[in-house]
Amino acid sequence: MKPKILMTRAVFPDVITYLAEHFEVESNQEDRIFDDAELVRRMHDKVGLYCNTSQRVSADIIAACPSMRVIANMAVGYNNIDLAAATRAGIPVTNTPDVLNETTADFAWALLMATARRVTEAEHWLRAGKWEKWTYDGFLGADVHGATLGILGMGRIGQAIARRAKGFAMRVIYHNRTRLAPHEEQGANDAQWVSKEALLAQADHLVLVLPYSAATHHAIGAAELARMKPSATLINIARGGIVDDVALIAALRAQQLAAAGLDVFENEPALHADFLTLSNVVLTPHIGSASAPTRRAMAYCAADNLIAGLQGKMPPNLLNPEVLPRK
Ligand code: GLV
Repeated sequence: MKPKILMTRAVFPDVITYLAEHFEVESNQEDRIFDDAELVRRMHDKVGLYCNTSQRVSADIIAACPSMRVIANMAVGYNNIDLAAATRAGIPVTNTPDVLNETTADFAWALLMATARRVTEAEHWLRAGKWEKWTYDGFLGADVHGATLGILGMGRIGQAIARRAKGFAMRVIYHNRTRLAPHEEQGANDAQWVSKEALLAQADHLVLVLPYSAATHHAIGAAELARMKPSATLINIARGGIVDDVALIAALRAQQLAAAGLDVFENEPALHADFLTLSNVVLTPHIGSASAPTRRAMAYCAADNLIAGLQGKMPPNLLNPEVLPRK
């Protein structure tokens, strides 16, 4: 008999077929959201969990699923999973890094351009039938070319964003816990490390690309927003909770900040209703990695991690190698 796995959300049907070569798959193509109790109930006879960021896998859930041997997250971020609890329980956890770097960097730029140049605001106005004549001062935005791009979080996606700035003749500054090696700063990234305070004060466009954790909770709050230029644009493609959304709404309302482009929100998908009342925000529903080839690559990456893990092999993207027996 094949080992049993649970897929918590709908995926490309061919990924289910691929996994079914190895496992008895319980899928969820109707795409219902499981609450904790339902997840635990469905996991009672499963050894593998294939999930994504919309599925919280807490310490309590891990404790309540004693047959669970591998968790494969179809995302690069894994703050939905209590990694420490999984590690204590000896459960390998995997994510899907790298395959989404370039697509997510493309999207950061899409959001930045749309926000700085007021693309969606202008489109909504046009669709509302308000375009009667061209005016010299209609929808004046900020320049992107020649401006200073700030990047908070300079991992693989941050660097892919930095590389794209060359074509816009931008100065790139970044802040990260770990500074890049000199050859990385001077090479394709062409980026200068600065303190967080300098980043906030100098960036014309600030992109957030750092992972969410207790340490990065509200990394951008009222105090940080107050340090930014009133003409600046803030882009969050990382995770909700990195920005204090209430503080951001207040700053946008007060025009303490020119505009924000947000792909992620606290409590998403139930974002703060006040965002919908602001014209100086571009809002997207967590689609940073959503190109057809990349979402497929992520889905197969998670599948390969699950297969390897359940076959007792080293999963390609293991987050907690300490769970493996020492050689
Ligand atoms: C998406 O947010 C991801 O972490 O892959």
